[in-house]
Amino acid sequence: MDMVAATPAAHVLMFPCPVHGHITCMLHFATGLLAAGLHVTFLHSDHNLRRAAAASSPRLRYVSIPDGLPVEHPRDVGRIVELMESLKTKASVAYRSLLASLLLGDATGGFPPVTCVVADGIMSFAVDVAEELGIPALAFRTDSACSFLAYLSLPRLLELGELPFKDGDDLDEPVRGVPGMESFLRRRDLPSQCRDCSDPDNDPLLQIVYGFTAHSGNARALVLNTAASMERAALAHIAPHMRDVFAIGPLHAMSPTAPAAGGSLWREDDGCLAWLDGQADGSVVYVSLGSLTVISLEQFTEFLHGLVAAGYPFLWVLRPDMVGASQSAALREAVAAAGKSKARVVEWAPQRGVLRHRAVGCFLTHAGWNSTLEAAVEGVPMVCWPFFTDQQINSRFVGGVWRTGLDMKDVCDAAVVARMVREAMESGQIRASAQALAREVRRDVADGGSSTAEFKRLVEFIVELST
Ligand code: UDX
Repeated sequence: MDMVAATPAAHVLMFPCPVHGHITCMLHFATGLLAAGLHVTFLHSDHNLRRAAAASSPRLRYVSIPDGLPVEHPRDVGRIVELMESLKTKASVAYRSLLASLLLGDATGGFPPVTCVVADGIMSFAVDVAEELGIPALAFRTDSACSFLAYLSLPRLLELGELPFKDGDDLDEPVRGVPGMESFLRRRDLPSQCRDCSDPDNDPLLQIVYGFTAHSGNARALVLNTAASMERAALAHIAPHMRDVFAIGPLHAMSPTAPAAGGSLWREDDGCLAWLDGQADGSVVYVSLGSLTVISLEQFTEFLHGLVAAGYPFLWVLRPDMVGASQSAALREAVAAAGKSKARVVEWAPQRGVLRHRAVGCFLTHAGWNSTLEAAVEGVPMVCWPFFTDQQINSRFVGGVWRTGLDMKDVCDAAVVARMVREAMESGQIRASAQALAREVRRDVADGGSSTAEFKRLVEFIVELST
């Protein structure tokens, strides 16, 4: 990314929701701002600051506040609503005091006063508190523009009677109400929160998710980690609802290097790269369901049998908390026994390095947005088994719009896993689409590309807000 002239007084406080996929993505964003000459203060929760690998630079510093939950409280996917509530009601108080103190600057550390906040778009309070203190705030979303648009369309979906789903509704029927997607979006492709709601007026999750999405219209701008070549139409439909929109992704491809690219909450097992070195080109299935997905023992067994039946070597990320902590060792042994010498299991992989590796032929994924972008940049075909939130719509784009993979949504059956993995590994058409998309996305992040131009415009916007 080119250096651009920026006033040294521009100092951005970045506040991600304290979960892995949001933190790493915002660290890539921070890397770009540092390269443009800005100062960045990166706000973690106390809980994560202890875990995160922290890279440094003279214009980057990390600070933390309590997330408001007791130390021993689980922070996994099953308790995410409690985390969100605690951030809003408790962490917001500490955040307000921190911001007030950062307004004074820190002459000794060389940090000017904070002049702008980039807050995770799923934490509206972070925008409101900043603006109340007179600091302009931007909302940054780590999920796809297509999911953002679906959330923004919730009132229309309700008005049209598309939601809530009724007993007996065919989930394969098209759904009306999300602009630009009526020709391919089915009920089952809507974000998972839509499926779970029975009484929309009293559904806390749906209210929350619509609330923070619409609230981004109050922020000075909405920033999305996406590329025009992937989501041009969705971006155009979002724009009229926001004060400004910047599409600056995929950020990991804009700022692939340190200083801020660390931040993983897990220790990466690099040994799998050496294992990949010993495999033939395009022969390995990489399996990872992201940082939050939880699966049942039955689903694990179907995946395992399907992978073995597909017949290719596979590298599987099995987080210790993914199926049940007590079972972790037994599951690893089960994979080793069933996969024989063809299987490799790790608790956490250096995913970007894996997807770049010449031996990887396809990616069995939950279609989390970071993973989807990482596969898109590398041109790796995907087989998607979406778990929750935006993943349901992301996987529809993979299977039905970009055609860079297959959407296995809602089915977890060994025979289907085997069939789809084989097809993704062997289909010349899917591979060609994946490579064509990769070329377009790489153009977006190269000099003169749309994401690079948008990033420059964003830096200028922040500098202007800071003066
Ligand atoms: C979830 C949502 O699905 C996502 O769309 C949203 O924006 C954030 O929350 P998560 O389950 O974390 O995300 O998935 P994903 O967005 O794909 O992020 C996972 C990240 O972890 C990726 O950057 C991936 O490279 C990394 N990862 C995953 C590793 O580095 N190693 C691993 O072994 C597995």
